[in-house]
Amino acid sequence: MIEKADIHCHVLPYVDDGAMTIRESMELIEQQYEQGVRAVCMTPHLRKKMFETSDEKIYREFGELKDKIGELYPDLKTCLSREYHCDPLFLSIIREKKIMPMGERYVLTEFSYSDDMEEIEKYLSVVMEEGYVPVIAHAERCEALRDFDILEDLSKREILIQMNASSILGKEGRRQTAFCRKAVKRGLIDIVASDAHDPEYRPVLLNEAEKVITRLSGEQYARKIMHDVPMRIMGLEE
Ligand SMILES: [Fe+2]
Repeated sequence: MIEKADIHCHVLPYVDDGAMTIRESMELIEQQYEQGVRAVCMTPHLRKKMFETSDEKIYREFGELKDKIGELYPDLKTCLSREYHCDPLFLSIIREKKIMPMGERYVLTEFSYSDDMEEIEKYLSVVMEEGYVPVIAHAERCEALRDFDILEDLSKREILIQMNASSILGKEGRRQTAFCRKAVKRGLIDIVASDAHDPEYRPVLLNEAEKVITRLSGEQYARKIMHDVPMRIMGLEE
């Protein structure tokens, strides 16, 4: 089992549709730890009219959870960011320089299933204009991004592609899985993360994903997308 870093998860309690109690948070942390994760970036949703929890509340919950994690898992590093849905709320936040990045300059950006490339490019440009590097959250869920030429073009422009462990494992339907596995084989994914929401229905599946990625593309690539790149994003390069 390789050591891992998970840059996209909803482990923080009471702030979105992720963990509903501290107990659920700690169960998710336990799953991450047992699957080799030693660095976690918690990324609560920010989405207009759906998840508008303030940064202040998120910092408070993070402080409490971090203490608990420190007692049980002293070698687990944690940091806080957000999963920004690309909508007018995100635009105003980034323009007002109120982004909570991963590390110093990475922003986890989420698009809707039906967003077209024009819309996607509009938001990517804003993120880059403001001096950040976009990390596209679960790109496989967005119809317009299920295209290898587009992924190659994005990677040439240093835009990072994150895919969910569950999608690679076939939990989100056959089409998505086939696309994800081909993308793994072509080396077009930069990061695999759990996007875990709760211990039972949307758990941490990084260990199973590691096995599939290793089988398809080798251990070195698995290490790159499950450890090296995520650690660099969190500013925790060793
Ligand atoms: Fe997410």
